[in-house]
Amino acid sequence: MQIVIHPTARGAAEAVAWFLADCLYEDPGLVLGLPTGRTPVAMYRELVRLHRRGRADFSRATTFNLDEFVGVAPDHPGSYRQFMTRHLFADVNLDPTQTHVPNGDAPSPRAEAARYDAEIAAAGGLDIAVVGIGANGHIGFNEPARTLPSHTSVVRLKPSSRRSNAKSFGGSTRRVPARAISMGMGTILSARHVILLATGSEKAEIVRKALNGPITTMVPASLLQGHPKALVVLDRAAARRLTS
Ligand code: PGA
Repeated sequence: MQIVIHPTARGAAEAVAWFLADCLYEDPGLVLGLPTGRTPVAMYRELVRLHRRGRADFSRATTFNLDEFVGVAPDHPGSYRQFMTRHLFADVNLDPTQTHVPNGDAPSPRAEAARYDAEIAAAGGLDIAVVGIGANGHIGFNEPARTLPSHTSVVRLKPSSRRSNAKSFGGSTRRVPARAISMGMGTILSARHVILLATGSEKAEIVRKALNGPITTMVPASLLQGHPKALVVLDRAAARRLTS
């Protein structure tokens, strides 16, 4: 696992954007796993800027988002599909048919999870999975548990995950769906590269547990320690509790 520490959150996010732009230059047909949340907003902003300067071409790329809320239609303002449209899809030259987000509104969420997995498999799996880390150590919505799903599945969200998404649902934690469809840890760990981007002092303790602590499903991000090509990009604030 390679750990890179930048002085600022913006610097860390931009470094990941530059890395992705370089990878797209080398291999324009990349299959990317993409996160939502506050942390990657600056990364997407930089990717859009690079694209406008002709330095990030998405025309042959394929994207798979990590997760979506169950019961939330793709056009709901709180959906992760809308997040991606606002922050990336509307502003770069991705082929809309090549952007994938689980459909939270599907009649059978379990069937939708299976369909999503089949789509990822048909694309040949992920080349690069970009992930964030939740305050509880989750990746995607793979919440801490004794066992973690390998494949895309319907998961029950922890109260802390619902709280941190309240803003997209009128500020009310109760309105945040209790379940989500999340790409499984097996799929994420099968990506050729995994990049974890974490910034801010509120992530310092969980980053310490994930990187310096034991590998445990109770801290799903700790499983990245076993990935042969994991790159962790932090700002100084998120790195301040690391011991090595
Ligand atoms: P955040 O979310 O970027 O909003 O902190 C990260 C995550 O939950 O994966």
